[in-house]
Order: sequence, then structure tokens, then C-alpha cells
Amino acid sequence: MNTPNSGHQVLVIHGPNLNMLGLREPGIYGSTRLDEIDAQLKALGRQWGITVHCFQSNHEGAIVDRIQSAATIMGGLIINPAAYTHTSIAIRDALLLLPIPIIEVHLSNIHKREPFRRHSFVSDVATGQIVGLGVNGYYLALRAIADIIGATAST
Ligand code: DQA
Repeated sequence: MNTPNSGHQVLVIHGPNLNMLGLREPGIYGSTRLDEIDAQLKALGRQWGITVHCFQSNHEGAIVDRIQSAATIMGGLIINPAAYTHTSIAIRDALLLLPIPIIEVHLSNIHKREPFRRHSFVSDVATGQIVGLGVNGYYLALRAIADIIGATAST
């Protein structure tokens, strides 16, 4: 029988304006609030023996600080850098510090929106990218990390 391994830790980072999910352009980003996404990620994590830590910031430096602090303790990272995806070399450089799987998530399909959203400074340093699947993208990203780090289901 599989038993949960509480040693697995995954960090989820949400970038600027994602604290407004539910209110923010619901036609593009959906009606689910960020606290609902985080609660669901934590619940899924518990099923797979993963402790999920969630962090949101509207500030680039705060996101860099959080990535740096993850380097030694986290087994995986899910990041939606939001608008910083398209601008932040600082976040990209911080991600290069992490020897762990990194999944880049975007609720919307950034490749079929405005041209300035098509380029990501993160995608070539991430393990994988999930776009355009709404909140399911986060849950699929956690499933992918669970598989990569060998987390086992508790049921
Ligand atoms: C986003 C896409 C970005 O272009 C945008 O700036 C966001 C959200 C997404 O999840 O679809 O804030 O990352």
C-alpha cells in the first residue's frame, strides 16, 4: 500500500494581478478566485503526499526573494509569473538557481492573444509549460510534478 510522503514540498507562485482572479477579466481568466485555486492545490497535494505552499505578489523583487528561498527546500515549483512572464529577466535568472522541476502555468493561451504576450522569459528555463486550460492548468502542473518527483497517492 502506498503511504503519503510528507517530505515532498511544492511551491506555487502567482504573479501580479492574480490576487484579483474572479473579478479580473473573467471572460479571459475565469471566475475562480485565487484562494479557491490554492485550496484545491493543497487538497490535491494532500492526496499525493505533497505539502503545497502558495505565494502571490505584485512585486518583482518579492517574487525573486521567494524563488531564492525555495532553492534548498522545495521539490518542485509551479509559477504563473503573469505580466512578468514577458518582461522579467530577474525572475528568469532566479529560476536558473533552482535544481528542481519548474512548471510555467498561464490560465489563458498566451500564444493566441496580443503579440507581446507570446514571448516568455521563463519557458526555456522551465521543465514544461501549460497554457490556455484555465485553473486546470495548475492542477495538471501539480500532477506533473508529483510524477516527476515520485510522490505517491495515499488512496
Ligand atoms: C497570464 C497571462 C499574462 O500575459 C498576463 O499578464 C497575466 C496572466 C495568464 O495566466 O494567462 O497576468 O499569466
